[in-house]
Formats: sequence, structure tokens, C-alpha cells
Amino acid sequence: MVAHELIRFQAPALPSLRDIEPYFAEAERVRWFSNGGPCVTRLERECANALGLLHPGVAVNNATSGLMVALRACLGTPDGERRLVAVPSFTFIASVNAVVWAGFEPVFVDIDPDDWHISESSLARLHDLRGSLAGILLCSTFGTAPSAARRASLAAATCALGVPVVVDSAAGFGAVDEDGRPLGDQGDVEVFSFHATKPFAIGEGGLVTSRSDGVLDTVSELVNFGFDHTRSVTGHLGINGKMPELTAAVGLTVLDRFDEVLTRRRTAAAWLRDELEPAGIAFQAGSTGSTFQFVPIALPTPAARGLLLQKAQDARIEVRAYFDPPMHRLPALTTCRQVGDLAVTGSLAERIIGLPMANDISATSLERIRDLVLSAGTTAPRGTGRRPPREPAAAAGAPGSVPGIPQPRGAALTEGDPDRPGAAPAVTPRPAQ
Ligand SMILES: Cc1ncc(COP(=O)(O)O)c(C=O)c1O
Repeated sequence: MVAHELIRFQAPALPSLRDIEPYFAEAERVRWFSNGGPCVTRLERECANALGLLHPGVAVNNATSGLMVALRACLGTPDGERRLVAVPSFTFIASVNAVVWAGFEPVFVDIDPDDWHISESSLARLHDLRGSLAGILLCSTFGTAPSAARRASLAAATCALGVPVVVDSAAGFGAVDEDGRPLGDQGDVEVFSFHATKPFAIGEGGLVTSRSDGVLDTVSELVNFGFDHTRSVTGHLGINGKMPELTAAVGLTVLDRFDEVLTRRRTAAAWLRDELEPAGIAFQAGSTGSTFQFVPIALPTPAARGLLLQKAQDARIEVRAYFDPPMHRLPALTTCRQVGDLAVTGSLAERIIGLPMANDISATSLERIRDLVLSAGTTAPRGTGRRPPREPAAAAGAPGSVPGIPQPRGAALTEGDPDRPGAAPAVTPRPAQ
């Protein structure tokens, strides 16, 4: 029997040094390698253009420090009773790390069963805690933009609570809603991650955006130790959260081909959706314009998810159970407050699974991923004749012809990890990114 190549959960790709060099040359020319040199300034401007924002955001060394300073910039320093920050339990640990490291205490809220963003009903229950609520950390779950309707109702719900809103859109740089509107202007301040595993991948980095010039000025000071424009620390103490010039040069190079990256990921995810939804697999509502760091799906039952995890090992396909356990079940966070029983979070966490994605994922890999999911207890096993309703098989990308996805070049095609040839896929949930 021929062993299948390992399909990695993510196969990050950064631009070559040759492509980065022309951008970095400007920093070399002026001998300016951090503290907002030419590459960072240009990246901030070009990212604002890409997101249609009036004010350039602030480039940071990663989204976790971006979230910490964004929280401090909008909520101030934790003071007396007002220390609670509402945050979904169904998120990556970094959202909660930032809340705690900024000096606040998380209070966990539930999510909507369809789009997996914070639910308005859970927010409404925060009125009882208003005396101690300092702010809200919304999350654009899995980098997906909330629909226009949800954005409006979340804005109304948070406005009624009268506290600042920080938005963690870590994987969402480039995500658009059903009207093609990008993220970047949600809440009082929004934060993106440019980590190597994100679709906009530059190694380590991030961007803080806001509609408010004042907030951005404060963020700029806080990521630079607290120095103001006269180079004095007259206000809050900051940290060092600056992005170096070399990293920004990588970002400028990635921007050049980012449209293509998004098209490839969306095309591959759409094909999986067409293949799997008719079999009872749930995709995140409103995610067509997402960025697809990976492809999150919800199995019908926890047992089906368990079976998939088992079978993934034999199939040599890496999958990850993001976000299981949810944050309120982590040992370090079990004493934190929560709103209600977080039933939607609990149910989804037991059924969620992230399927692999990469800029250059092959048609063969997509077929293997589809077959794995269909083999794990779905309502319509293969061979029942049910086909995706929207497009004929060939147009939707029948085996070997996934639109926009490179075709395998014979048996030489591999997505194995070059550092670990033949390594067994890790299928247990682990706190990686
Ligand atoms: C929801 C969320 N928030 C924050 C982060 C942290 O991003 P970074 O690695 O850039 O600090 C991540 C990273 O995966 C994330 O998924």
C-alpha cells in the first residue's frame, strides 16, 4: 500500500528574501531599522488603502501586544471596581491573555449558534454587571466578518452597555462581509495578526486600526514605551510593541500578492463547502468572504468529531479542534465569571474541527480532506448520489479540477513537512496557532 503524504494543518509560506530586498533597501539606505522607519510607515499607509480606512493604523510586533495596548488605549488603566472585560469563551487564548496582561478580568460570554460571533442575548445579560464592566472584547471569530445586520445589532448592544469596544480580528485582515465591506473599522479599535500561520503571513506582526485619530495616537505612544511626540513620558506607561523594518518589508511584499492568496483560499474553502454541506456539515454562517486561515466546520455530533479525529491519524491529515476546550474550561480560568451557562459555546466546542488550508493546497489534498470528513458519520455518506445543489460537478470543481487550485504533478506532489519527513500527524488539540 502506498502511504499518503502528510497534509499539514497549515503550510505557511513567506515571500523569498529576493522579493523582500527591494522594499528593505529603503530602510538600509536611510539606516533606519525600527521606530517607524520607511517600511513601517509605508506598510501602515498601504494597509489603510487596502482596508479603505481614512487613518493609517499602527503596525505592531504581534496581535497579542496590539490587543494589550488597544485595551489600555480605550479602557485606560484598570481602576477600582471597574475591571471586567467581556470576552467570548469561544476564542483563541491570546484574546484572554491580552485582557489579563492589560490588568483586567475576563467575564465570559456566549456566541451565536450560526455565525459563532458573540451573541446579543449574552451581551444583554451584562447589564447586571454594569458597575464593574470596563469594556468589551468582541472577536471576529475565525477572521470572519460579521454580516451587516449582525454588525449593526452588536453595535447597538454594546452601545447600550456604554463601555469601549475592542475587536480582535486576528485572522481577518482582508475578510469581507456579504456586501464586500472589509474589517478594520469595528468598535473603538480593531486588531489584526500577521503571524506566519495567518493568511496575511509575515512571521510575527500585526496592525491596530481605528476610526479615531486620538486612539491611534495613544496606541502609537503605548507601543513605544509611552513616549509622546516630544519624546517624554507624560501620560501612561507603555511597552515595546513596535514592528521592525525588516518585518514591514515582508508585509509590503505579501501585500503585492495578497488578492491572489485570498482568492485561492476562498476557492478551496468554497469547494469543500459545496462537497460537505449537503452531508450535514455546518460551516460558519457568513464566511464566504472570510480569509480561511484554516477551514472550521462543525460536525453533527461530538461522536462524529471523535471519529474524525481518529480517522485523521490514519489518513495522515492534520486537523485541530479549535477552540476546544473553550476558555472558561481552562484550569487557569475556571474561577472567572461567566454569563449564563455558555451552552452554545459548550456544544460547538465539542463538535468543531479545523480542516487544513494553505495558499497552494492541491486538488488531491482537498479530495482527501473531503473523504475524511464524509467518512466520519455524516448524514449523507458518499455514494448516495447527493450532489452540491448550486453548481454542476465540473464547474464546482469535480475531482482533479478544483477551480483556482493547482493540479497535482503526478506522484511527486507533497505537502509533507520537510523538517519531519514521515512524521505522524498530530491530531490532538494543542495550543498552537
Ligand atoms: C483570535 C486571536 N487573537 C489573537 C491572536 C494572537 O495573534 P499573535 O500571534 O499575532 O499575537 C490569535 C493568534 O492566532 C488569534 O487567533
